[in-house]
Amino acid sequence: MLKIVVCVSGGGTNLQAIMDAIDCGKITNTQILAVISNNPGVKALERAEKYGVPGICMSPKEYASRAEFNEAFTNKMCELSPDLVVLAGFLVKIPEQMVSKFSGRIVNIHPALIPSFCGVGYYGLKVHEKALERGVKVTGATVHFVNEGMDEGPIIAQKAVEVLDGDTPEILQRRVMEQAEWILLPQAIDDIANGRIKLVGNHVRRA
Ligand code: GRF
Repeated sequence: MLKIVVCVSGGGTNLQAIMDAIDCGKITNTQILAVISNNPGVKALERAEKYGVPGICMSPKEYASRAEFNEAFTNKMCELSPDLVVLAGFLVKIPEQMVSKFSGRIVNIHPALIPSFCGVGYYGLKVHEKALERGVKVTGATVHFVNEGMDEGPIIAQKAVEVLDGDTPEILQRRVMEQAEWILLPQAIDDIANGRIKLVGNHVRRA
């Protein structure tokens, strides 16, 4: 059984996709231990409560320094001791000590085709604003392992999504979520839970 902790910051639609996939059997052999949000009172925590998993709020604002938050966040994750940490719309940089303690066991969903529109400052709607500004005809989403960089870890899977005339950032974000994110992340979790993915050096191979 793959035990996971899902980290969220807002709407929790990717969390919902994971929970729905477990319920309908698209994800097997997987249990959500807890949901951690860096923001209180967000929809993602309501979704966790409705689903019956513990929702934990840990905000950097509650700590005297980022170093203290990083320590507390990492200690909490070690206490929960998941097999896999899933970043689902999580907007806080993962502490180095967590990356090393959970090396090869943290995955993230990014709303673009890495290496496009990623890295520092590229999150949420901003990613789609930049894609529209550049005039790309295709964008999409990427699920990848997390390393010490920002959106630089080994890529697990990607899915392309068409950009249409008249798209606004909001319309494009919704299409990328529906056609890519909500498919890729559950699929990656199910692949990891059932041993279909392995890391070979800095590349992901299907086992
Ligand atoms: C989405 O843009 C997603 O691509 C990004 O975070 C945003 C919110 O996701 N990872 P969610 O609805 O909170 O899952």
